[in-house]
Amino acid sequence: MSSLADEVERRRTFAIISHPDAGKTTLTEKLLLYAGAIELAGAVRGRKTDRHVVSDWMDIERERGISVTSAAVEFDLGPHHLTLLDTPGHKDFSEDTYRTLFAVDGVVMVIDAAKGIESQTRKLFEVCKLRRLPVLTFINKLDLPSRDPFDLLDEIERVLGIHAVPMNWPIGSGDRFRGVYDLQRGLVHLYDRKARAHPAPVNVGSVDDPRLQQLIGDDAWKALVDESALVTGAGTTFSHQAYLDFQMTPVFFGSALSNFGLEPFLYALTELAPPPRGRESDRGIILPESPEFSAFVFKIQANMNKRHRDRVAFLRVCSGVFERDMVIVNAREGQEIRAARPYRFFGGKRETIDRAFPGDVVGLVNPGQFGIGDTLYTGTPLTYPPIPRFPAEHFGVARLRDVRFKQFDEAIKQLEEEGLMQVLFPIIGRREPILGTVGPLQLEVLAVRLKDEYNVDADVESLPYKAARWLTGPADKIAATAGTTGTRSVKDRHDRPVMLFDSEWSLDYAQRTHPDVQFLAVHEG
Ligand code: G4P
Repeated sequence: MSSLADEVERRRTFAIISHPDAGKTTLTEKLLLYAGAIELAGAVRGRKTDRHVVSDWMDIERERGISVTSAAVEFDLGPHHLTLLDTPGHKDFSEDTYRTLFAVDGVVMVIDAAKGIESQTRKLFEVCKLRRLPVLTFINKLDLPSRDPFDLLDEIERVLGIHAVPMNWPIGSGDRFRGVYDLQRGLVHLYDRKARAHPAPVNVGSVDDPRLQQLIGDDAWKALVDESALVTGAGTTFSHQAYLDFQMTPVFFGSALSNFGLEPFLYALTELAPPPRGRESDRGIILPESPEFSAFVFKIQANMNKRHRDRVAFLRVCSGVFERDMVIVNAREGQEIRAARPYRFFGGKRETIDRAFPGDVVGLVNPGQFGIGDTLYTGTPLTYPPIPRFPAEHFGVARLRDVRFKQFDEAIKQLEEEGLMQVLFPIIGRREPILGTVGPLQLEVLAVRLKDEYNVDADVESLPYKAARWLTGPADKIAATAGTTGTRSVKDRHDRPVMLFDSEWSLDYAQRTHPDVQFLAVHEG
């Protein structure tokens, strides 16, 4: 039987981040197909259905397909065991998307070759930066007219502040896309628009090989010779350590839809991406190989099974071995819980699991014992740091239509515990909660869920604010911020002062006029 250290070593737990439409779904699907984890292309589809009319929250969930019904997909590839955590990146973009990045050890960033870095990629990248997560970049859609590859690399460096090192180099794009040249191995992978399978790579050694000229034609060859000389001349060579240290991202060009460039990319993913590493705790770094089990909750999903009204807590195993029926302790309250129903989710199905190792995701059916960020352990007590809260960007006020205040307060509290939204309260005036979400869809979802799951009739009316910041600093200075143009002072459930802003400008103005106050975008716990 393999040892815990072997199991850790072969695990790769990662997420794919992208802006909507860059090709994340397609890449996910193709990676799973390639690895034999799914049989039919199309199994991961279903997120792009028009959802302007939100009539039933469960329908939204169903339409999201894999993104919600399975928080993670596990599959084997050669000796490796891969866990791909889903990060919804579309209209249903939410704080969950950010939190998922706390449960992975590495990230794949998909960029549309015609568009470059887009807003949502940038936001997600900021979280990767916070965690110093190694990032592999896949520049997609080379079969369509694309931007100049130098320009794309330059943009990654400029906008994201990380060295971008090409691992392969595209030969043309769009109609003139001929394939990629593997700069590390001296192989050329040819692209055949018509063939379903791509020809095997041809080993040409260096770009000077006359066979390459024959294979791709004079013009493409000349361009490749010039460009690869520039790439080599730029002097940045790939360093695995620099990638692990978040200083460098290896960049691969390809086309997910036409399966082009996926094999080398998957190879790189398993070879380069790190296995689970030690995690900071109040007892210092906990190594994955340490024998005592520990994990933390990174996602809670209510009503996975509507009939049972159950809630599933998704744990990321950090150390030791998880076993079914083991008694674990929740560090928050010291409460002991028997892990009687551990599941793995895939598509619409759930499957009971007996064991799990560091890097794995376990879903525990949970009648409310767990909260997001909770540490679970056996043996010596420990606590992992809380997952930070991310600033909401969409706001609405929830107004009860009748007088069932108790139910209303309880429902808001429970949904807040699930991490669906942040709840803020006006300092003066009626105590109607202001709900803040990271994605726009969540506000619509909230009203539906209040009715559907808690039988509470409430309207969620959208508010014109664009940003919120926690305020820290001397109390008198914070008090003096009240009434700043374009802002509103509120507080969170723990009475911490928060300010809402109606524009980037008013945020900037408030910061300039109150230099003694810190405006924090991210608050721990
Ligand atoms: P997302 O999850 O990041 O939002 O992107 P998704 O994979 O859904 O891809 C967005 C669109 O881009 C899809 O087309 C998809 O087929 C297309 N696409 C993805 N990769 C490539 C590629 O390498 N080359 C080309 N030419 N297209 C690519 P759609 O028409 O919006 O959807 P569908 O009708 O294909 O489902």
